[in-house]
Amino acid sequence: MKSVAVLGAKGMLGCDVAAALKQAGYPVCSFDHCAVDITDPVAVAEVVSGHDVVINCAAYTAVDQAEHQFDLCQRINAVGAGILGCLAAIDNKYVIQISTDFVFGESGDVPLLESSPVNPLNVYGRSKYLGERMLTQSGCRCAIIRVAWTYGHHGANFISKILELASRLPELKVVNDQIGTPTATTNVARALLPFVEREITGLYHYTDRGYASRYEVACFIAACKGLNVKINPCLSSEFAAPAQRPLNSRFDCSKIDTVLDFERPDWHDEVKRFLEK
Ligand SMILES: NC(=O)c1ccc[n+]([C@@H]2O[C@H](COP(=O)([O-])OP(=O)(O)OC[C@H]3O[C@@H](n4cnc5c(N)ncnc54)[C@H](OP(=O)(O)O)[C@@H]3O)[C@@H](O)[C@H]2O)c1
Repeated sequence: MKSVAVLGAKGMLGCDVAAALKQAGYPVCSFDHCAVDITDPVAVAEVVSGHDVVINCAAYTAVDQAEHQFDLCQRINAVGAGILGCLAAIDNKYVIQISTDFVFGESGDVPLLESSPVNPLNVYGRSKYLGERMLTQSGCRCAIIRVAWTYGHHGANFISKILELASRLPELKVVNDQIGTPTATTNVARALLPFVEREITGLYHYTDRGYASRYEVACFIAACKGLNVKINPCLSSEFAAPAQRPLNSRFDCSKIDTVLDFERPDWHDEVKRFLEK
C-alpha cells in the first residue's frame, strides 16, 4: 500500500486527515511544524523521497496577523508550496495541497466554481493563491482542494469561538453578510481518500452541503446547545478587523461530487453531531 506523509499534522485539519488515512489502512507519517518546516527544502526533500503521497495541511492561518507578517505568511503559504511542488516534480510524487475560499473576493452571491475568477482581499488569501500557482507551475502531479469555514476538534474555529463568547457574554453581534458552509474537517479528510487512492489531479472545491450566514450558524449553535445568549445580526463593515473577508464563500462542489464515494452531508447535521461530542 502506498505510504502517505501529512505536513502540518498537528493542525486542526492535519490531525483529522492523518486519522482518516490510518483508518483507511494507509501507512501514515505525521509531521508537525517542529518535525518538518515546509520552508526548509532539505527537510521537505526527505519527506518527499520517503513517501508516495504528500498532503500539505501546513499553513500560516492567522488571517488578521498576516496583514503585519506579510513575509512570513508568503514564505509558508506560497514559497513552501512551491518548494514541495518542485521536489515532488523531480521525484514524480503526488501532492495534495489544501487551499481556501479566501482566494476569492467580491464575487456576488452565486456558488463559486473552480473556474470562477479569484481576487483575494487580504495578505493570507493572496499567499494561498500564490501557493496554488507555485505548486501548479512546479509541474508536479497534484490536486488542490479548496475548503472553507472548517471546524474540528483539534483547533480554534468559528464554532468554538461562538461557544466561548456565549459562555461569558449575554449578547453577541455576528455578521449576517458572510455566506458559506460550516464544514467538518473529518469530512474534508474523508473527501481526500479517493484522491490519495487514485492520484486524481486538478483543482476542486469541497464544503459540506447547504449555505448559511455566520449569524444563522451562530443562532443554530445557540439553539442546539440551549444557550441563554441574545445574538444580533450585523454587517462585516461594523467590525474593524485588519483583514477584509470575502462575503461570498458559497462553493459549487459539483466537480468533487463526481469523485467522492459519499454524499456530502448537510452542515446542520454535522454541526449538531460535532456539538454533541
Ligand atoms: N480553518 C479554516 O477555516 C480554513 C478555511 C479554509 C482553508 N483552510 C486551510 O486548511 C489548511 C489547514 O489549516 P487548519 O485549519 O488546520 O489550520 P491550523 O490548525 O492553523 O494548522 C496549520 C498547521 O500548520 C503548521 N505550520 C505553520 N507554519 C508551518 C511551517 N512553516 N512548516 C510546517 N508546518 C507549519 C502549524 O503548526 P504551528 O501551529 O506549530 O505553527 C499548524 O499545525 C490550510 O491550508 C488552511 O489554509 C482553513
